[in-house]
Amino acid sequence: MAAGHGNPAPPESVAAIFDRIAPVYDLMNTVMTAGIDRRWRAAAVAAAGAEEGMSILDVACGTGTLTRALARRVGPGGAVTGVDRSEPMLARARRARRRSDAAAPSYLTADALALPFAGGRFDVVTMAFGLRNMPDYAAALAEMTRVVRPDGRVVILEIAEPRRGLGRLLFMSWFRHVIPVLGRIAGRDAAYRYLPASLATYPEPEAIAGFMRGVGLQHIRWRRLAIGMATLHVAIAPPAGEVAG
Ligand SMILES: C[S@@+](CC[C@H](N)C(=O)[O-])C[C@H]1O[C@@H](n2cnc3c(N)ncnc32)[C@H](O)[C@@H]1O
Repeated sequence: MAAGHGNPAPPESVAAIFDRIAPVYDLMNTVMTAGIDRRWRAAAVAAAGAEEGMSILDVACGTGTLTRALARRVGPGGAVTGVDRSEPMLARARRARRRSDAAAPSYLTADALALPFAGGRFDVVTMAFGLRNMPDYAAALAEMTRVVRPDGRVVILEIAEPRRGLGRLLFMSWFRHVIPVLGRIAGRDAAYRYLPASLATYPEPEAIAGFMRGVGLQHIRWRRLAIGMATLHVAIAPPAGEVAG
């Protein structure tokens, strides 16, 4: 897997892809991962250390699945905000919010590379399956780090290629051959050809940890989930008085 500094696809074409897949996104996730994505998001919520009353930002929130899970944790005394650049994805998140009886997240259209928030505003900042799509991984991480409070947490969940063995073989055939066919069935074939391509250029977890270190994050830990099909990175923002690098 080649290590790059960002997704090489033009940001406008990435944006168009997510606008186009919004109506089938949640269903495709469930079908593509056999529902395991729910467990990965639960692991991200646990890693976030979300507690009653916290203020959390979920960047590249899409249809808001993780955002709602975080909102359930922080309760009515807390506040969860989801931001995404895709209006069609956010429209679905807002609709789901109306159906849920949990503390309602608020949603905002924003670019992950230019978050419309003052520094140090959130206790926790999360991103699920978003970093792989960013044109500059370090810049996205730097923005997340800027808006989290000193000693706050940054959590990154992302899909990954299993490293070896039968798991890798099965995953790669599924990813390269079955997913594009599922995409064609869903009428979104170009979009679901993008998915394996975006993973092929996404750096190894050690390199992502390196980008996190580079923007000043500390105590960086990461682990592979489910035979390595996803990775979960957790880091702590520098304490007050220490400037993020
Ligand atoms: C694979 S989806 C993940 C959605 C959601 N976090 C989840 O767990 O299902 C990636 C999301 O990143 C968003 N995205 C991509 N580039 C972005 C950017 N520069 N700023 C904000 N959102 C972006 C897309 O619109 C899309 O909703």
